[in-house]
Amino acid sequence: MPENEKKQSKKLWGGRFCAATSNLVERFTASEHFDRRLYSQDIDGSIAHAKMLARCGIISDEDAKKIISGLREIETLIENGEFQWKPELEDCHMNIEKHLTDLIGEAGGRLHTARSRNDQVATDMRMYVRDQIHVVDRLLYGLQNAFIHQAGSYMGLIMPGFTHLQKAQPVLYSHHMLAYFEMFKRDRLRLRDCLARVNVCPLGSAALAGTGYPIDRYLTARELGFQEVSVNSLDAVSDRDFILEFVFILSTIMMHLSRLSEELVLWSSAEFSFVELPDDFCTGSSIMPQKKNPDVPELVRGKTGRVYGHLVSLFTMMKGLPLAYNRDLQEDKEALFDALDTTIGSLEVMQSLIQGMKPIAERMEADTRTGFITATDLADYLVRKGIPFRQAHEIVGKAVARCIESGKELTDLAISDLQELHPAIEKDVLDILDVRGSVDSRKCPGGTATGAVERQLEEAKSWMQRFRL
Ligand code: ARG
Repeated sequence: MPENEKKQSKKLWGGRFCAATSNLVERFTASEHFDRRLYSQDIDGSIAHAKMLARCGIISDEDAKKIISGLREIETLIENGEFQWKPELEDCHMNIEKHLTDLIGEAGGRLHTARSRNDQVATDMRMYVRDQIHVVDRLLYGLQNAFIHQAGSYMGLIMPGFTHLQKAQPVLYSHHMLAYFEMFKRDRLRLRDCLARVNVCPLGSAALAGTGYPIDRYLTARELGFQEVSVNSLDAVSDRDFILEFVFILSTIMMHLSRLSEELVLWSSAEFSFVELPDDFCTGSSIMPQKKNPDVPELVRGKTGRVYGHLVSLFTMMKGLPLAYNRDLQEDKEALFDALDTTIGSLEVMQSLIQGMKPIAERMEADTRTGFITATDLADYLVRKGIPFRQAHEIVGKAVARCIESGKELTDLAISDLQELHPAIEKDVLDILDVRGSVDSRKCPGGTATGAVERQLEEAKSWMQRFRL
């Protein structure tokens, strides 16, 4: 037999071809080296499909049994690393199906009845994303707990709050920690929302137009744990919105992690010295012996761009596609997998980093004594004495300018100096200039007063109990 024909006969779709695929094309189109990640979803999907085919009388019960036990055997082979993946069989679907036929003979050839790789891969991807949504959710849960722990352990600790990276007003460290809790809470809510759209079963859409076999789509959907079946076969085989949505959520998680990383880099610097990062999560310099570098948060910040890149790749991949399936769609996988691996890895390290982080209380508190951090409180004090806010703002601005000139802080001014600014100022102003007084005056819901933050923390804990995907 000539070499070409021998090769051609190996293809599951080789019937209409006169020549074997060029090696170059085989290499170029193969995806088994990355889509083998979908093997367990693919096998579960095929088992559900085979069961349904038998239940509907499309294949015999005996064939279905052979298919199911053959697929389980293949699953074990793959899990033990004994399965021989072949690039010339293109993808994981063909690799598994071909091996099945080699294993059980003719019955294996009946599995693909009333199915196409187009609805098969769409189903696998939805099952995979569904599983991974739960993985990411659990990691976010762990990270949120780390913030709850930080907030609870250091309740009352005051630090400068910043706008424009300039000292603005004093806040509680716990308040700052719980701000991150809120970001990751929104990410988890987004995951739940996304899950509803992911959990729709495309199986039965076949190549693009549905199938004439008397299949039961509800049966396979139920068997695979899907909430609904897709409504339009053309849309179902070509839709990858669910991947885009998921990668958007991953991008948002990374953006949040990156903002956190940026703060950790700043805070752990000698200039800030707000936190001590755990030694086992920092690295040294090959030349400068004194260095303890925050490489972990820096890498998380750096990897964020990579996840955004995948999101843009996916959008670009989709934008020119006519209905229905096009091979471009195969490019969804590496983008998704890498975005996922990057986010999972980042979440894992960040949880440990936050757990092990120690605030340096003296430095944080000392830093609230400079930078005129209670200037707004002084203006508010004047407002309470009946002075319009704009005028109060102006008066305090002048006081700050005077302090800058003389190298003083507002708290260094004598009561007589302050009274020169405005006669309405009395002795009680001293409480106002105190950072703790400032913090504890901000009692409104969502404010930084100790009581308000304690309530916030209780609410966070109870949300953690209540929220389930
Ligand atoms: N490996 C392909 C993918 O991921 C599977 C579907 C192939 N379908 C086809 N008509 N060539 O998209």
